[in-house]
Amino acid sequence: MRRKLIQAKTLVNDSVTRVLTARRPKNILSTSSDKDELHSTRTSRLMNSPMMLFAREIIQNPRAMGAACPSSRHLAQNMAKQVPILDSGYVLELGGGTGTITQALLQHIPANRLIVVERAPNLASYLHQRFPNSHVLEGDAAQVVKLLGDKAHQVQTIVSGLPFRSLPHSLVQQIIRQVEILLKDGGTFTQFTYDLRGKTEHLPAHFRRISTKFVWNNFPPARIDVYRVEHAK
Ligand SMILES: C[S@@+](CC[C@H](N)C(=O)[O-])C[C@H]1O[C@@H](n2cnc3c(N)ncnc32)[C@H](O)[C@@H]1O
Repeated sequence: MRRKLIQAKTLVNDSVTRVLTARRPKNILSTSSDKDELHSTRTSRLMNSPMMLFAREIIQNPRAMGAACPSSRHLAQNMAKQVPILDSGYVLELGGGTGTITQALLQHIPANRLIVVERAPNLASYLHQRFPNSHVLEGDAAQVVKLLGDKAHQVQTIVSGLPFRSLPHSLVQQIIRQVEILLKDGGTFTQFTYDLRGKTEHLPAHFRRISTKFVWNNFPPARIDVYRVEHAK
């Protein structure tokens, strides 16, 4: 009997010790400093969320963003499906933003074959953290040949999320010139636009449109065009 009592006491003592020394679950807040900490964690998470990063860039540079929000998953997946992916070489994404299209592209190609160029430093550093195994370059698409260095010769496919309609005409011309330098015969250029009619402006004659797809499940609805470089023989 006495032994049983001692055993029961030990059991209770052990349990109490375990409860007292256990780490307090994060959602049980006993002090106001705990609450402040949780509040500031939530605020910082919200401020660094993709949506907020995008919104801040729109305020700072609306013409370069050219959209009210990141592309929808539907647009991104359709973009990635339209992109003709070859067995070797790099896929280059221009204007990665918060990485919606990047993420979709990575369903189709190994991470180390994807290069993403983004002009806005905050977005570039976000992309870098989100896609550590891909090549994220902070810089202007108008200088992309220089940015790429040795990799420039191995670009097979270019995917663009750049807002050609809102960027200055002269900048668009420079970017197209860079695309022309990078893509060899057979290389492809995929671009989406909110202009549902007509062709992507400014492209040279030897960029032949090989497919068009409308995506209604996006705000606003968009059109995806794929062009192939075909120099006259
Ligand atoms: C319409 S957002 C698209 C973002 C993302 N691809 C998406 O679909 O959600 C355009 C992106 O292009 C970037 N951008 C604009 N001009 C650029 C330039 N000259 N060089 C590189 N990136 C640029 C902007 O910073 C922005 O992230």
